[in-house]
Amino acid sequence: SAHRDRAPRGLDFEPVAPNRADQVTIPDGYDQQVVIRWGDPILKGAPEFDPEDQTPESQAAQFGYNNDYVALLEHPDSRRKKVLVANHEYTDEPLMFPAYDGAAPTRDQVEIAWAAHGLTVVTVDEDRRTGDLTPRVGDELNRRITATTPFVVTGPAAGSDLLKTSADPEGTTVLGTLNNCAGGTTPWGTILSGEENFNQYFANTASVTDPVAKARLARYGFSGAASGRRWEQYDERFDIAAEPNEPNRFGWIVELDPYDPDWAPRKRTALGRFKHEGAGPRLTRDGRVVVYMGDDERFDYLYKFVSDKKMKRGNSRRAREHNRTLLDEGTLYVAKFTGDSPAAEIDGTGALPADGKFDGSGEWIKLAKGGKSYVDGMTADEVYVFTRQAGDKVGATKMDRPEDVETSPKTGKLYVALTNNTARGTGSNAKADEANPRNANKHGQVLELVERHDDPTALTFGWSLLLVCGDPEDEGTYFGGFPKDQVSPISCPDNVAFDSYGNLWISTDGNALGANDGLFAVPLEGADRGQVKQFLTVPIGAETCGPVVQDKHVLVAAQHPGELDGASYENPLSEWPDGPGTLPRPAIVNVTRTGFGRIGC
Ligand code: FEO
Ligand code: CA
Ligand code: CA
Ligand code: CA
Repeated sequence: SAHRDRAPRGLDFEPVAPNRADQVTIPDGYDQQVVIRWGDPILKGAPEFDPEDQTPESQAAQFGYNNDYVALLEHPDSRRKKVLVANHEYTDEPLMFPAYDGAAPTRDQVEIAWAAHGLTVVTVDEDRRTGDLTPRVGDELNRRITATTPFVVTGPAAGSDLLKTSADPEGTTVLGTLNNCAGGTTPWGTILSGEENFNQYFANTASVTDPVAKARLARYGFSGAASGRRWEQYDERFDIAAEPNEPNRFGWIVELDPYDPDWAPRKRTALGRFKHEGAGPRLTRDGRVVVYMGDDERFDYLYKFVSDKKMKRGNSRRAREHNRTLLDEGTLYVAKFTGDSPAAEIDGTGALPADGKFDGSGEWIKLAKGGKSYVDGMTADEVYVFTRQAGDKVGATKMDRPEDVETSPKTGKLYVALTNNTARGTGSNAKADEANPRNANKHGQVLELVERHDDPTALTFGWSLLLVCGDPEDEGTYFGGFPKDQVSPISCPDNVAFDSYGNLWISTDGNALGANDGLFAVPLEGADRGQVKQFLTVPIGAETCGPVVQDKHVLVAAQHPGELDGASYENPLSEWPDGPGTLPRPAIVNVTRTGFGRIGC
């Protein structure tokens, strides 16, 4: 139609072509700037980055490794400043350290890795002419959270026997946060961050003989003897044989107040324990908060939490203190999806069923509320700490790795990135169903969910697949019904965000089409629905994280550039962002329209 000759509102840019370049590639008419890289100074007195002379102390005062979630928030005092918050998901020791021996790391290397995990809060100046963002080293809001920062455990499982250790007999204080992947910003201005693949940090699962403990560990992916990073050589809490409950203290949604450096970050047990990708908060009409959450594992579940209490408006101390308790009291649910087409029409190839849509209905199954469990044979503490097993018992739907979840500010519809699941339909694994319609699913899908009456507290919903990702020339793909000869290929959706026009932006992780990962935008309503356009690509070996999409800024975190087979400190396979002869450094990139105009206009 003629309509399709015009760019959808907010998406007037020439799509970037898939590529394998060791750079961030952006559309013509845009500028890019590296805001901050691994090792850049954050706190007062932090030294400049020197990979030949890195210490735990310098790393603890510098930007961490492998930036994932990013938020760009208003600054309390000035419109020319912003507050940048980033997660640091994990460390890539062979790329970080000269002469790294994986079986016998040095204490310094391990302590640097602890300090390179966690989160960063850093104030940045915004150049009003170019939109460039420059960190203010030593600013009073600047902060590093690491694998050793004290967290307060709150909510119904705080103090549970399942969380007690010899260092913390009360079960209420945990040192550090690990594997912080995506996150969310609450309507009251705090940051939520998901502890994802925490199992990899713990050693000696193989020593556990009690069958209940073994089953719990197995359900969360713990296995083997030594851990991948051998941290147990320097801190016994990472040895399950010595501290059997320490693993239970990770796998939570954490809450950080970037505006209050004196407030200890929290681990919110009411939101359940699993491999949290992120957290998508949303307010109900009466002011309660709902948080949608994915558990990023093959065949795992989608969850939501509904708070009991209402948010208080405004920035008063009283409102802030009240709002920082909202995530401690409420109800935790898990999702069950039912397709509306006959099962025989879902053949596992991605071919559409006769009604022309992968769609259906669903329900939110109640797991626990405060001290009360709704799951047979599990106490409330067990539901919160072993939430995956609660989902198993109530028959939740096994999804293709639920990642980020966001609600459209325009329509209230919810979008869930399901990144891939190559094990779907193999062996004794669950076969394709209407919500997860491909066996050996390499490219993932994006699911649209509409709560009944658009009420986030509803117990039922409708859903349909917006995208069945992959090469549009492949028959088993679907782009919202848009003509597939006019879309960008997309594979492995991970993080999602909205622009102010209501377009969905999707970043990818693990592009299985042979090109680098990137950032894409797609309109959701009207004749343009499904017209995926690629906005940028990230350097070789990197995944695209963040993203932040504002009217005049697009920020992405390029995570693990150069993470390729055979890469090492001595043999780096990326030189981004510093160029020839340098190590790759995970970094946050700010893309602006030349002249600092509106993105996509
Ligand atoms: Fe860390 Fe689910 O991506
Ligand atoms: Ca259908
Ligand atoms: Ca992710
Ligand atoms: Ca991912």
